[in-house]
Amino acid sequence: MEIMMRPIGVIHSPFTEKDQTPIQSVRSQVIGLVEVYPEFADGLKDIEDLSHIHLLYIFHASSGYSLHVKPFLDDLEHGIFATRYPYRPNPIGISTVRLITRQENMLTIEGVDVLDGTPLLDIKPYVPDFDLRTEDVRVGWYETRSKK
Ligand SMILES: C[S@@+](CC[C@H](N)C(=O)[O-])C[C@H]1O[C@@H](n2cnc3c(N)ncnc32)[C@H](O)[C@@H]1O
Repeated sequence: MEIMMRPIGVIHSPFTEKDQTPIQSVRSQVIGLVEVYPEFADGLKDIEDLSHIHLLYIFHASSGYSLHVKPFLDDLEHGIFATRYPYRPNPIGISTVRLITRQENMLTIEGVDVLDGTPLLDIKPYVPDFDLRTEDVRVGWYETRSKK
């Protein structure tokens, strides 16, 4: 089965080089702009009441993948699905960012960790009741990783 998707918008960011882009949004205070294409802008109703949103997007500047990778934070190899590494069979990324303001179809966000021009697939609200797990959490190799 092949899945066809079309972007609902684009993420504007100050980053044009992968190696100068933060590796996670939680480590970034960088401001960016999410442009939602006009035909989808009506779907932003009520979004301005949210403090944080999840952005789902395509790692458009990564081509090819490996099933075993050395992620940014470790010198050891791990299975691609046990990492957030951008070279994936389906190169989908997720960033949870702070929503600062909305002006019509433009969202100003804080916590950018993507390249300029990253195609946006979806936006979802960050809801601690749904998203925050604090009990019996294990993070595997992230606990013993060689880099911080
Ligand atoms: C480790 S990934 C994590 C991204 C996301 N928070 C996640 O967990 O899916 C972040 C890195 O991906 C790379 N990257 C960011 N945007 C990209 C894009 N549009 N295409 C290819 N690589 C990208 C940069 O090297 C950046 O440091």
